[in-house]
Amino acid sequence: MLAVAVLAAGKGTRMKSAFPKVLQSLAGATLVERVLNSVRNLQPERSFLIVGYQAQQVKKQLNHFKGLEFILQEPQNGTGHAVQQLLPTMEGFDGELLVLNGDVPLLRAATIDALVQVHRKSEADVTLLTARLQDPTGYGRVFADASGHVNGVVEHKDCNAEQLSNNLTNAGIYCFNWQALSAILPQLSVDNNQRESYLTDSVAMFARAMHLEADDPNEVSGVNNRRQLAQCEHILQQRLRNHWMNEGVTFVDPTSCTLSEACSFGCDVVIEPQTHIRGSCIVGDNCRLGPGTMVENVTLGKRVYVVQSVVREAKVGDDVSVGPFAHLRPAAVVGDRCRIGNFVEVKKSSLGTGSKVNHLSYIGDTTLGSDVNIGAGTVTANYDGVDKHRTVIGNGSKTGANSVLVAPLSIGDNVTVGAGSTITNDVPSKALAVGRARQMTKNNWANRSI
Ligand code: UD1
Ligand code: MG
Repeated sequence: MLAVAVLAAGKGTRMKSAFPKVLQSLAGATLVERVLNSVRNLQPERSFLIVGYQAQQVKKQLNHFKGLEFILQEPQNGTGHAVQQLLPTMEGFDGELLVLNGDVPLLRAATIDALVQVHRKSEADVTLLTARLQDPTGYGRVFADASGHVNGVVEHKDCNAEQLSNNLTNAGIYCFNWQALSAILPQLSVDNNQRESYLTDSVAMFARAMHLEADDPNEVSGVNNRRQLAQCEHILQQRLRNHWMNEGVTFVDPTSCTLSEACSFGCDVVIEPQTHIRGSCIVGDNCRLGPGTMVENVTLGKRVYVVQSVVREAKVGDDVSVGPFAHLRPAAVVGDRCRIGNFVEVKKSSLGTGSKVNHLSYIGDTTLGSDVNIGAGTVTANYDGVDKHRTVIGNGSKTGANSVLVAPLSIGDNVTVGAGSTITNDVPSKALAVGRARQMTKNNWANRSI
């Protein structure tokens, strides 16, 4: 029987942030979400999250984790004190407790799995995950013999000069026998540099403690400050890009691009330099994104080209080109074979198949039929200062340059709107609508007497 506890009650003083550290995010997911995801496969009997600093906010963010039990640690007197909070609720539990620090976001499920397996085989009271780090500054040092038995863990701040030279570090991931741990937890003292109760002190108190050294030291990177946050982001981005390159995505200049965990790409997608893919995105076959593009929570069909543009919360069909310098905003739905050109903004609007908005336009709260041609500088005036109103434009209609379509407005099929018009009344199908002052021409104006 396995229970899992993630420690997430600390403030994260070294982050110098108004938010709890475990809610900092990496590639679109918070640190603590990443840790919780890494233990999902184990299907534990019970899962606990120790919360304390800004507990409400942390809980709110993680409500979608089914079966997660929140345990309040108040005040936050260290990692040992955090695990002590489980004593009442876990009374009588007979099995292993896997403890994970909430600020170790790059762990792979396979590594945790290996830790649990090794622990079960060795019949130790605790097995901890360790790594040999080139720069172990800040980490607890693990003192072990050649056969993997651990004598104890000493925190960086409590190490003497000789102990500091040991680069075998504690990852903050432990598999304990609960029965043995629950007997030791009440004995932890606060006799150390930080006057806190350290979970790491328990290690020396067990009859049999073992460790498993992680193959990839990057995996156990802890996040205590912004520099470590940036290093983890760097490692994660490299992992994501390598994954997608292995899956057949071209990156012209990989290190200039960032991805989120929740994006997926079809075949022969090309990501040009300075392109960022955020949130949950589906990018179809043969798309070309960038240079200089940001997409967030989008679904793009096949052969979509997006150049120097921003596309957010939008859905785009096949064979569409967007940009340069276009902005598709939330609830933009763009049909197949559409073109969205330079300096065009589309919000909460749908465009039917083959429609074009090529230059300098704002299309908001609008339903466009198919094969509509929106002339340069056409604007849907959707806001009367209080409410937003919709514009509907039928199939095959065209608007001349610099038209203003004042909503609410309905324009039929195959309508032509004259250039420079301000249209305030509905227009029936097949009509020409012109709404502007007639041109006046005065001949020989230059020769007039003054
Ligand atoms: C801890 C370990 C250290 C290890 C390192 C790995 C201890 C004493 N030290 O140090 O040996 O090398 O992690 O990254 O455990 N937390 C609580 N309640 C508290 C204090 C902390 O829930 O009262 C949580 C934090 O939110 C965090 C985790 O425990 O997620 C670790 O705390 P942190 O202060 O980051 O410990 P480190 O100094 O990194
Ligand atoms: Mg830490």
